[in-house]
Amino acid sequence: MTLTNISNVRDYIKNNGEFVNRILDRYLPPAEQDPSTLHSAMRYSVLAPGKRLRPLLALSSYEYCGGKTEGEDIPIHFAMAALEMVHTYSLIHDDLPCMDDDDLRRGIPTCHKKFGEAEAVLTGDALHDVAFHLMAQTGSTQACMELAEALGTNGMIGGQCADVEAEGRDITKEEVINIHTRKTGALIRCSVRLGAILAQADKDLLERLTVYGEKIGLAFQIIDDILDVEGNSELLGKNVGSDSKKKKATYPGVVGIDQARKDANKLIEDAVACFDKFDNNILKDLAIYIGQRNK
Ligand code: IPE
Ligand code: IPE
Ligand code: MG
Ligand code: MG
Ligand code: MG
Repeated sequence: MTLTNISNVRDYIKNNGEFVNRILDRYLPPAEQDPSTLHSAMRYSVLAPGKRLRPLLALSSYEYCGGKTEGEDIPIHFAMAALEMVHTYSLIHDDLPCMDDDDLRRGIPTCHKKFGEAEAVLTGDALHDVAFHLMAQTGSTQACMELAEALGTNGMIGGQCADVEAEGRDITKEEVINIHTRKTGALIRCSVRLGAILAQADKDLLERLTVYGEKIGLAFQIIDDILDVEGNSELLGKNVGSDSKKKKATYPGVVGIDQARKDANKLIEDAVACFDKFDNNILKDLAIYIGQRNK
């Protein structure tokens, strides 16, 4: 499978990624404002060079559903910033010594390495709060509930708990799929759904995009696990080999690298098949980009 237009999707990621950085900068509290340690740590972790995939998925889904992008501080902008903030909070907590114990994130020392453990816990908490303050400004109760559910015990937090509890023991393919679907898939699925919900997509379209979101969400974490084995630390901005060091439950650990790659490719194909063969759009290209990513 090849990208329909590689420069198209790269330009989209670059231009809109820069836009995401601008709104994040605007919606984060100023570093000088009290408590400045916390505000500095929030800005340090959020504004570090992440891929901004979740806000980009929300935006492209919103555009695909006919949402209007004119104007400043419109609901989709609040949701995009909120998604990146909760995602960053999840990374800060994921890196803590009591969880994955990682020292490098987005090419710089992890939040707790730079600011201390207690501050890193509080930085994550504070990002969660700013995110829901932004979500409230979308004016959509449905959107707020979607995000809360994706993050909660049936979603990301439930998955992170299962991930920690699976460390060091043998697990089945079903179990690892279940962990990955919740810890990573739920927020990616939610990103796609938020764009559709804020664009007032009808039920059929929302359902179709939900399937797309589920497929790329699981593929994304399978590829994350593969990159922890085969990836390049400099490109990734995080240390490779972290999973085996911590005896984490990973998809390639259960099925092997080759099968993991095949399964990820199949999920990407399924995601692309959510669209008509002749419907060339950014969501389709983003799925292929996710399938081919090396960072
Ligand atoms: C890393 O997410 C954590 C996972 C859910 C696998 P990303 O790979 O999207 O990290 P950033 O945002 O680009 O740093
Ligand atoms: C992280 O999965 C999932 C969440 C943060 C919710 P990983 O632990 O595999 O992510 P990395 O590899 O540290 O980025
Ligand atoms: Mg983890
Ligand atoms: Mg981790
Ligand atoms: Mg990982």
